[in-house]
Amino acid sequence: MKANNRTIVALGIETSCDETAAAIVRREANGRGTILSNVVRSQLDLHAGYGGVVPEIAARAHIELLDAAILKALADAEMGWDDIDAVAATAGPGLIGGLIVGVITGKAIALARNVPFIAVNHLEAHALTPRLTHGLDFPYLLLLVSGGHTQLLIVECVGRYTRLGTTLDDALGEAFDKAAKLLGLGYPGGPAVEACAAKGKPNVKLPRPMLGRREPHFSLAGLKTALRHAAKDREPLSDQDVADLCASFQAAVAEIVADRTAVGMALYRDRLGQDAQAALVVAGGVAANHALREALEGLCAAERFRLYVPPVELCTDNATMVAWAGAERLALGLKDGMDAATKARWPLDPDAPPALGAGVKA
Ligand code: KG4
Ligand code: ZN
Repeated sequence: MKANNRTIVALGIETSCDETAAAIVRREANGRGTILSNVVRSQLDLHAGYGGVVPEIAARAHIELLDAAILKALADAEMGWDDIDAVAATAGPGLIGGLIVGVITGKAIALARNVPFIAVNHLEAHALTPRLTHGLDFPYLLLLVSGGHTQLLIVECVGRYTRLGTTLDDALGEAFDKAAKLLGLGYPGGPAVEACAAKGKPNVKLPRPMLGRREPHFSLAGLKTALRHAAKDREPLSDQDVADLCASFQAAVAEIVADRTAVGMALYRDRLGQDAQAALVVAGGVAANHALREALEGLCAAERFRLYVPPVELCTDNATMVAWAGAERLALGLKDGMDAATKARWPLDPDAPPALGAGVKA
């Protein structure tokens, strides 16, 4: 596919989970991009009391927050409606109520302004972010680790992804969130577990599920259960116990991720050849974890891969990545009609064989 040689200014809308976000990005004809505005309205406080995202509350909050977020994105970019060449909205995967709010809003703007509409896959948006932040060329290996997803993918070009590994049960961020919940650390769990781990020692023996397996899949449910048993054995828990449990959990996760990613790297080289660009991109909220990054830095040095981690505000959910993915697609002539559907599930690689034992998140 040949890229279009004009500049595209795209408005992006993200409402797939608990962030209401709008952003404006410019993509030059040469493929370079500039972020003109990036507005994120977190709904964390609305969901914190429930220990997780409540879909109905999220959808209603998107309705209340989205228009103002879009207007702020325009104002921050010092732009008016006439400056927008395209509108991109996340159409899946995610919570269907929120997706509908974002997609209907995006379609309405596109229709009113007579500009193309692009229905963006949220995972593709994460996957293409390093092309905006680092000008990275294809292909590369992507480790996507968030509250909802844990996948290793080969990113070959816009629209072509090969899934190498996925989780058989919990997503990585979800495992952090559940660990935090059982240790009484609140939501979201990842940052709380990391902060607490800094005060502890990894001296609690925990399993490393899937270590050494030939396919780079993940499984985290057993680790979570082992953590629960270890916590129960130590009750009543002192602050030091909790810190040691966090440090041990985090160390186990880092080792698992490095092991699984090493298998992903070998498969990447097998499939694309030894001369393929050796680049690993880490995206998703869990990429913020320093222990994980350290483990991946060590792995990349050993395997001679270059490591790319987008800045944390672009690793977590945002609309900049949606605007960018929309612009990348439009540059290739890919756009969607007013009948574009929202999809709760939308795998990047529909041909990936199901992971043996995989549950609903595969
Ligand atoms: O990508 P994201 O913002 O939202 C989606 O799930 O799509 O990721 C949020 C997840 C949460 O599960 C959160 O606990 C986790 O990322 N997270 C972390 C850290 N910061 C956020 N996990 C481990 N360590 C962190 N520092
Ligand atoms: Zn995400």
